[in-house]
Amino acid sequence: MIQAAVLGYGTVGSGVVEVIEKNADMVGRNAGEEIHVKYILDLRDFPGDPHEKEVIHDFKQIIEDDEVKIVCETMGGVGAAYEFTKQALTAGKSVCTSNKELVAAHGPELLALAKEHNCNYLFEASVGGGIPIIRPIKDALTAERIEAITGILNGTTNYILTKMEKEGADFESVLKLAQDKGYAERNPEADVEGHDACRKIAILSSLMTGKNVDYQKIYTEGITKITARDFAYAGAMGMSIKLLALSRKMGEETLAMVAPFLISEESPLHMVSGVFNAIMVKGNMLGDSMFYGRGAGKLPTASAVVADVVDCARHIGETLMCFWDAEEAALMSIDDVERKFFFRAKAGNGERLKKLFGEELQEISLSDVTEETGYVTDVMKEKEFAALYEQLADITVGSRIRIEA
Ligand code: HSE
Repeated sequence: MIQAAVLGYGTVGSGVVEVIEKNADMVGRNAGEEIHVKYILDLRDFPGDPHEKEVIHDFKQIIEDDEVKIVCETMGGVGAAYEFTKQALTAGKSVCTSNKELVAAHGPELLALAKEHNCNYLFEASVGGGIPIIRPIKDALTAERIEAITGILNGTTNYILTKMEKEGADFESVLKLAQDKGYAERNPEADVEGHDACRKIAILSSLMTGKNVDYQKIYTEGITKITARDFAYAGAMGMSIKLLALSRKMGEETLAMVAPFLISEESPLHMVSGVFNAIMVKGNMLGDSMFYGRGAGKLPTASAVVADVVDCARHIGETLMCFWDAEEAALMSIDDVERKFFFRAKAGNGERLKKLFGEELQEISLSDVTEETGYVTDVMKEKEFAALYEQLADITVGSRIRIEA
């Protein structure tokens, strides 16, 4: 029997205990030995909970118990979770986590610590919840040169955008509904401003490049400026608006960014609706492959943590390979990226706009709207578009949106 400990008995932590218990036969068979949760660390007590006897409040008990070989860190944050993870790895205990903030902030250091102490730091649940994406990148696609990763990596924002699209509703009212239903946090900033997706694409980009992609250097824009009117134009163009997190190899550099994009019906990401996530990985031999499923939620996320527990159990005393060096990856500035842009302007400015953007500027009109027109530019550099758009503050309406080819 292999003894494990769970740090944090919240949504994901309690899910981990549930998965280990409910799927005990499968988990035990796949691990080669029965997995048992000996301790659950939390600040709170859980009177009446079937696992109240396992609940402890002192991490020392876990560290000093040689029987505990695997620790599931489902606390979140980069404070106590960071300290406990370092201590566990230093004691030779493998750590499995769903904590994307910690993985994005300290991945290479924690992986190196695991290697030094012949154990593992695994983080399948940190990106895409229950969708297997870390293991495919690390193990299944090892014959590939991964050239690009494009994902819908945040369920909350995808739920909000889908609802806006289907119901013609505005951001604020859908956000409130999402909060009332428990999909969005009371403080929704990390999701709606793109910070959550930013950390997830930093992790995927780091695995893609083998170097450290600093999440703080990734250009990140959220969905708060997207309106129902933007969706009306998107519909007229046969497109949708999605918060995309993308990472592309551009020569020696990597382009990584998070922003809302207009995407066409031909894109496989177009049909990804509601709380679902999807990640497209482009390999130089394989071409595109897409991973789709539940990117959040108690049991899907817990299932990914427990799959890591099984992997750790199979490799006690041995460190699995993971190429993610501390050396910083060179990131490309988005200024030089070329694409088309969509923007809106007050009616009657077509001539002025064509003089600025050229005759290729495409007009998009909505049958029931007379006070403004939508425009799509030709392919141009981000910095060139930004310079022209800046001159138009007196006539533009809403916010410009990038178009993903
Ligand atoms: N808040 C995240 C989301 C949870 O909405 O996708 C999973 O990381």
